[in-house]
Amino acid sequence: MAARHFLTLLDFSPAELDQVIDNAIALKKSWRSGETRDSLKNRVLAMIFEKASTRTRVSFEAGMTQLGGAALFLSPNDTQLGRGEPIEDSSRVISSMVDAVMIRTFEHEKIERFASTSRVPVINALTDQFHPCQLLADMQAYRERRGSIRGATVTWVGDGNNMCASYINAAEQFGFDLRIACPEGYEPDAKLLAENAERVTVIREPEEAVRGAHLVATDVWASMGQEDEQAIRARNFAPYQVNPRLMAMADPDAIFMHCLPAHRGEEISEDMLDHKSAVVWDEAENRLHAQKALLEFLILGA
Ligand code: CP
Ligand code: NVA
Repeated sequence: MAARHFLTLLDFSPAELDQVIDNAIALKKSWRSGETRDSLKNRVLAMIFEKASTRTRVSFEAGMTQLGGAALFLSPNDTQLGRGEPIEDSSRVISSMVDAVMIRTFEHEKIERFASTSRVPVINALTDQFHPCQLLADMQAYRERRGSIRGATVTWVGDGNNMCASYINAAEQFGFDLRIACPEGYEPDAKLLAENAERVTVIREPEEAVRGAHLVATDVWASMGQEDEQAIRARNFAPYQVNPRLMAMADPDAIFMHCLPAHRGEEISEDMLDHKSAVVWDEAENRLHAQKALLEFLILGA
């Protein structure tokens, strides 16, 4: 049987996503109560990082260890991937030795190529186009705080980037309405928007977009690989900062999320991570448990 992959949220059904999140909540409880678990004993995860990471690396590596398995950190600097070995050849070899592969890279097409010749599940740990693992943690955090997100209004403020694209996929899979407030020229992919027109709207004015929202989320203005655009983006995105004044226009019980790392004074005000609506530290901690639930689902089967 062909391996299941997790390249975008659309690779799982809504019921499967719910199952992973339920398990993530259960794993968090059991970890916090000191229980040990060896569901992935002797299993190995290969982790290929072509971009920097704190949360993703620590959560996958610690997660495999907590489940009794092991994780290998592979960087292009010291593997043949960095010296031009074809992705498909690397995939055939690596996937013949491990139980799952996690990849953080630039072009989304690269992980699709890797997955096409992989014998084992491939996980998207962020590409320029999507960041589905972060959405598992975000949806877990929403459920823990507010229950089901179905029918809620979510507002994305800022760049139409990889996180925004995964929020668009999440709107479809979890059944919420998504408003996107971004400057002209920084919209998400037009095809993705058109495919999700029923649930997703672009609203230029951040104040109008957050009105009555149950969840407000944002991310950096310049993503990894866009460092050269930092100055121009800082100017173009200036009206799109999330701060207590903007949050005051959302629903009184609205929560605020940011996948981190954050730039205080840019996409968020200095005080936003400490605002009563902010759940960013839960969101980050949830990466650990969401990753473990995802690994169990993919390696052990549903
Ligand atoms: N949110 C997130 O993916 O963080 P890292 O880049 O630190 O992995
Ligand atoms: N959009 C950001 C997310 C980092 C977790 C980036 O791609 O750099």
